[in-house]
Amino acid sequence: MSTADQFNVDVSTLNRFVMANTRDPDLVILMNAIATSCKLITSAVQRAGVGNLYGLAGEVNSTGDDQKKLDVMSNDMMINALVNSGVCCVLVSEENEEPIMVPKELSGKYCVAFDPLDGSSNIDCNVSVGTIFSVYEKREGSDGTVEDLLRSGAECLCAGYVAYSSACELVFTFKGKSVHGFCLDPTIGEFVHTRPNMMFPQDGGKKIYSCNEGNSNYWDKPIQDAVAAFNQGPKPYSARYVGSMVADIHRTLLYGGIYIYPADNKSPKGKLRCLYEGIPMAMIIEQAGGIASTGLFEGKIQRVLELTPDEIHCKCPIIMGGPRDIGVVYEQYKKAGIETPEL
Ligand code: AHG
Ligand code: MN
Ligand code: MN
Repeated sequence: MSTADQFNVDVSTLNRFVMANTRDPDLVILMNAIATSCKLITSAVQRAGVGNLYGLAGEVNSTGDDQKKLDVMSNDMMINALVNSGVCCVLVSEENEEPIMVPKELSGKYCVAFDPLDGSSNIDCNVSVGTIFSVYEKREGSDGTVEDLLRSGAECLCAGYVAYSSACELVFTFKGKSVHGFCLDPTIGEFVHTRPNMMFPQDGGKKIYSCNEGNSNYWDKPIQDAVAAFNQGPKPYSARYVGSMVADIHRTLLYGGIYIYPADNKSPKGKLRCLYEGIPMAMIIEQAGGIASTGLFEGKIQRVLELTPDEIHCKCPIIMGGPRDIGVVYEQYKKAGIETPEL
């Protein structure tokens, strides 16, 4: 066996992949800035215990959640990298009530919305967390305002997430293209292309349902009935719920099954945020061949990607999976006389 067989001498990195798949140098710079901040975040997450980074920062974020020290650090890492990339004009972060306007001398054409640390309730017990982002291009003639981000999910140009777990893994897609996964190789400090053309399992994959069943008393009847249906029969579904959206969606994409965070009578818009949780995950799931629905939301069942956020921190319900399992949910809506889309 030659040395080259034992050691990869031709590594396909994220940077190389992005350069090969866009003619826009600004997009290369942007993805590089996102990747750099995620390397910083994974380093902080891994050192959280020894670095005294567990616990609260003492502030409350845009949605009223207590901010953890790592939420604040991750947010600063993303903002610093994106502002200084020179290719962004407006940023929206879960951790900032107001949008961040990039100073004129550093301003570029991209608008980025992000959840710097998703699943932060899991930080202190060392369970998987993540980062989620969506990218838009400012409209012609605009200097970059929130209006450039308050657009239909169908106009999102690039969406991705990073899972900080036993490995650090970045998954992203450009609009209309396939979904790709990259694992951080800590020995070279680069994201390496490990999962080309990620596809949702054709047959629906493993029979798994994933939701916070503690909310079941608040759900509408079709959702309660769908989860009851998953629990019935000779081979009921398995329940899996990490409580970090990135981890739950990553597993759903790879193994199959269904992820549900529906609207309920306590939270009529659901819990998850449209701009930096719902839309980017919906784009990835759909472009990998899955379905991303709102379930019954404001009187009808909608595609998440057809939603237009009315404010930067607005919420939307999420039901994501393959046709086999989304069909189980739609069946219950049909029984309740609600019009359901074709699968
Ligand atoms: P974040 O930590 O960014 O606020 O997001 C938490 C979200 C999401 O990651 C997760 O799936 C969901 O909240 C969990 O909510 P419950 O604790 O209500 O199940
Ligand atoms: Mn989140
Ligand atoms: Mn978060």
